Amino acid sequence: VSKENEQMIQAYEQLSKFYHHLLVNTNEGQEALEYLTNRGFTREVIDHFQIGFALNKRDMGLNFLKRRGYSEEFLERSGLVIKSEHSNEYFDRFRERIIFPIFDNKGNTVAFSGRILTEGQPKYLNSPETIIFHKSKTLYNFHKARPNIRKKQSVVLFEGFADCISAFRAGIDNGIATMGTALTEDHVNIIKRNTNQVILCFDADAAGQTATMKAGELLQAAGCHVQVAMIPNGKDPDEYIKTNGPKNFVNEVIGSSLTFMAFKLKYYRLGKNLQNEGEKLNYIENVLNDISKLGNAVEQEMYLRQLAEEFSLSLDVLKQQVRKMIFQSK
Ligand code: UTP
Ligand code: MN
Ligand code: MN
Ligand code: MN
Ligand code: MN
Repeated sequence: VSKENEQMIQAYEQLSKFYHHLLVNTNEGQEALEYLTNRGFTREVIDHFQIGFALNKRDMGLNFLKRRGYSEEFLERSGLVIKSEHSNEYFDRFRERIIFPIFDNKGNTVAFSGRILTEGQPKYLNSPETIIFHKSKTLYNFHKARPNIRKKQSVVLFEGFADCISAFRAGIDNGIATMGTALTEDHVNIIKRNTNQVILCFDADAAGQTATMKAGELLQAAGCHVQVAMIPNGKDPDEYIKTNGPKNFVNEVIGSSLTFMAFKLKYYRLGKNLQNEGEKLNYIENVLNDISKLGNAVEQEMYLRQLAEEFSLSLDVLKQQVRKMIFQSK
């Protein structure tokens, strides 16, 4: 580890403690604390995830860190401050935002994500890529969830920090989240070193469902056993927990996870009219193609029987078609 890496981590850690202090101990942090309280964040959760608040000041973080010996040029490289294009002045990247520290796999603070308190863009502002922070290799809460992932031999993957945190409050201590990007090969490798059982629990909107398809395919191709926990009524896990309570989330959502194949059957049907011959054939083709990729012969047989029954087709013909697809893909 280079000296600059170590110093950057130290700068993030010092500022993180300061932001946490501003949130929980000061009048200026009161409004942000109320915002979090209204969203159901308890003091315990705020401490556990080291959540903080950056005040609406131009250079509070800059001055705090300069007093501790860091240069402006170094702080710009860290992503914590930005150099103005017009003047030569530096100012804080994070202002008037709730600060979620991002940890690397060793538990070092390597980045921040700052949420705006009101409506506005961007909703979450992230640290840029630096020598210590690589979005495509970072999974939120991974360092704390890892022992639980190993013990339970399963991981729950969320889309957002808030989902991960609310699920933690509901007792899901093996939950992690991506950082607003699609799941990458690097993420998959990190997960696979710890377990090959993955439950996807993304938002119920169209973007979340499409992301579920992509992440599921990637994980399955890497040899993971994938399940999907679906949230009803277009909500996200955090909103579901707020409305329906933690018990229902654990039992009805996580507990009723579908196999990835069962999720895909639902996904292919979305917006389709299966009374229409063309759409019906297209649906059957999609499903057979996925069945042909299943590694497990029992699972293959099970879905083929379902398909045969639903569309009054002969099981033999379907099996023949699947063999053809397997042959063609070799
Ligand atoms: P969502 O838009 O689903 O946000 O984005 P959320 O997690 O439900 O946030 P709340 O509940 O409104 O607070 C999912 C994730 O995408 C990333 C964040 O990591 C977020 O948790 N994201 C989203 C960004 O990085 N920037 C954005 O502007 C928005
Ligand atoms: Mn604390
Ligand atoms: Mn979303
Ligand atoms: Mn969401
Ligand atoms: Mn949300």
